[in-house]
Amino acid sequence: EQWQTLYEAVGGEKTITRLVEAFYKRVAKHPDLIPIFPDDLTETIRKQKQFLTQYLGGPPLYTEEHGHPMLRARHLSFEITPTRAEAWLSCMRAAMDEIGLSGPVREQIYHRLVLTAHHMVNTPDNLE
Ligand code: HEM
Repeated sequence: EQWQTLYEAVGGEKTITRLVEAFYKRVAKHPDLIPIFPDDLTETIRKQKQFLTQYLGGPPLYTEEHGHPMLRARHLSFEITPTRAEAWLSCMRAAMDEIGLSGPVREQIYHRLVLTAHHMVNTPDNLE
């Protein structure tokens, strides 16, 4: 279909749920990310499912519950370095691999996530 949203094209709620769960399983084990994420990711997972749903053109679940995402502002209390942005994206690629998301829809979603991840960077890597 020509006019469907990325949300529909990727497979809707079922796929977003699988993707987000596969993603945070990796975040929880990534040495660069562990220090800034809570031990219990239940609420983080719930919010990310809501956010990605609306980010990909599905129903505005995140905004309905939490208001305007203001994503960069909500990340300012965490040190998001270029290294952490790359770690985040590597977890996302691995999660996409795990759930078998491939082809042009994967590439479109991943490209948007690269831009958003880089936009979240608020702290330089330490200069050696
Ligand atoms: C929340 C890290 C990129 C969406 C968070 C939290 C951390 C974090 C530590 C707080 C978790 C919690 O306390 O529950 C990072 C890092 C990134 C990154 C290191 C690397 C660039 C992104 C991107 C998106 C995103 C690209 C969206 C596509 C969210 C959302 C929340 C969140 C929706 C929940 C905000 C809320 O509290 O309502 N992130 N993030 N993040 N992140 Fe990220």
